[in-house]
Amino acid sequence: MTQNEFETTALTLVLGGTGKTGRRVAERLTARGVPVRLGSRSGRPPFDWWDRATWAGAIRGVSAAYLSFYPDLAVPGAAETVRSFTELAVRGGVRRLVLLSGRGEEEAQLAEQTVQDSAAEWTILRASWFNQNFSEGQLLAPLRDGELVLPVGDVGEPFVDADDIAEVAEAALTGDGHVGQLYELTGPRLLTFAEAVGEIAEAAGRDIRFRTIPVEEYAAVLAEQKLPADVSALLTYLFVEVLDGRNAQLADGVRRALGRQPRDFRDFARDAAATGVWSG
Ligand SMILES: NC(=O)c1ccc[n+]([C@@H]2O[C@H](COP(=O)([O-])OP(=O)(O)OC[C@H]3O[C@@H](n4cnc5c(N)ncnc54)[C@H](OP(=O)(O)O)[C@@H]3O)[C@@H](O)[C@H]2O)c1
Repeated sequence: MTQNEFETTALTLVLGGTGKTGRRVAERLTARGVPVRLGSRSGRPPFDWWDRATWAGAIRGVSAAYLSFYPDLAVPGAAETVRSFTELAVRGGVRRLVLLSGRGEEEAQLAEQTVQDSAAEWTILRASWFNQNFSEGQLLAPLRDGELVLPVGDVGEPFVDADDIAEVAEAALTGDGHVGQLYELTGPRLLTFAEAVGEIAEAAGRDIRFRTIPVEEYAAVLAEQKLPADVSALLTYLFVEVLDGRNAQLADGVRRALGRQPRDFRDFARDAAATGVWSG
């Protein structure tokens, strides 16, 4: 099969296909005529990472898959779940896997290894924190309310844009030049959370503050938001343990994969602000 045939005939499963990266991956594939199956609890057929009975139906007839785990590859047991899914997928005829992963998380790196060890053609996208956490994720509601409080201080994070991740995923799923590559995907600048919120406030043209709080106080903030216990535990782990400076360096994955610089946070903030997402 030529590369062109792979592109136009391969049914591609996009897990997390309505989420921050998956939605963008699915849109890009659809725009170039690649048949896409959205894999999530609301998909047809439904796919649930935590209900293995749903996996076979999602895989049927699929040649390539974008793996976005939920809630996060950092959670205990994620790697084992990804391993089981990968084995089933390869047995079911899936020939290419593109895994979305995270930086500096032991469990995520174990999950990467299981995909690398499989018989499939693999590409790993090891991404830093997404810009879109501020516009589509958990951080949106507090920003709208005018103040974000987190148990994180002056550590720099090279926030990456979900559109850049999706473009790399599209390239890896449809082209042949990315097989066996592990791309560390970051943005072009290190920003503290205070600096990121400052750039958002400037773009939104309103007063939005950031405040560092002790982790004990953060537990009360999470309780107020009535988040499930596992989500609260995950957020605390990410802010307190992973955001300790271990990921405070830029990587060249976007340039290696796409031959261009990654999108800057300021451009993201300008475009997101124009949609009114941070209006009070
Ligand atoms: N956010 C970041 O900054 C970041 C950074 C690096 C890596 N990552 C990785 O990115 C992945 C996704 O994180 P995200 O925060 O961006 O989330 P997201 O993709 O925005 O998550 C939402 C998506 O997951 C689906 N979903 C929810 N529960 C599911 C379940 N039980 N089974 C299957 N699908 C489910 C949702 O659809 P339904 O509601 O229809 O199920 C939706 O499509 C994680 O594996 C994480 O490790 C995230």
